[in-house]
Amino acid sequence: MRLADMIPRRRSVRAYRAERIDNAVLADLLRYMEGLVPLTSGAKVEGRIIPTDHGNFLQKWKTPHFIAIFSDGSDDGLINVGFMYQQLDLYAQSRGLGTCWVGLGSLTDKETVPEGMKLAVMMAIGVPDDVPERTSADFKRKNMAELSDQPDDRLEPLRLAPSATNSQPWYVTHDGDTLHIWREELGLIKQRTHGRMNKIDMGIGLCHLYAEHPDTFRFWREENPPKLAGQIYVGSVTL
Ligand SMILES: Cc1cc2nc3c(=O)[nH]c(=O)nc-3n(C[C@H](O)[C@H](O)[C@H](O)COP(=O)(O)O)c2cc1C
Repeated sequence: MRLADMIPRRRSVRAYRAERIDNAVLADLLRYMEGLVPLTSGAKVEGRIIPTDHGNFLQKWKTPHFIAIFSDGSDDGLINVGFMYQQLDLYAQSRGLGTCWVGLGSLTDKETVPEGMKLAVMMAIGVPDDVPERTSADFKRKNMAELSDQPDDRLEPLRLAPSATNSQPWYVTHDGDTLHIWREELGLIKQRTHGRMNKIDMGIGLCHLYAEHPDTFRFWREENPPKLAGQIYVGSVTL
């Protein structure tokens, strides 16, 4: 199965059974994590499957497994976190597991942080208590017109991407074959609550474009970045 086939089918799963993921499946997930493709080289990301009781969460999670995802804390590190671990989200859901990105969490002192890295975000992963897949096209998402300067069916995977509090911070402008990718500029207060997560969200959205065009997707940054009022330039893409 192509990863992209999961885009219209995946959802955030919050109801889990208390049972452990089968050892062979866990081993396969660890193998898959080693091969995750980064968006940019240089900003290191590391994920570890940890017991749920090594984390502190505001919500109650029944699954015994979480993934703690660490980065160097740079903007590119956070974008890579989203880009790489959304590949895992799609893959795990294609294997019948449930996943949910979890921004509201920290680690207890039972879990050590890799040298020189910080916790970026966590992901619940486990055996879902019900059908993990969407049973209908019940996406609550922006319209194409709110997401792009022109209608473009190729942006549908980005439109369906998950984001923290469903904030969908992305915007796209067209310049010939090139797509310029923007992140919504936030006011001071929202910057505090959403700034870090929105960088992860951008990586997640870009991952969906990559998943749909894995062989041709290209990402770069213009030397003279374009400007757009109310938006922060993230980079440019061809599909
Ligand atoms: C970076 C990030 C952090 C998130 N944090 C949480 C969280 O702490 N708790 C939660 O229940 N959902 C969390 N979510 C899930 C979003 O609420 C969810 O993706 C969004 O509402 C869209 O729904 P869907 O994933 O089912 O399509 C997070 C999603 C992302 C991408």
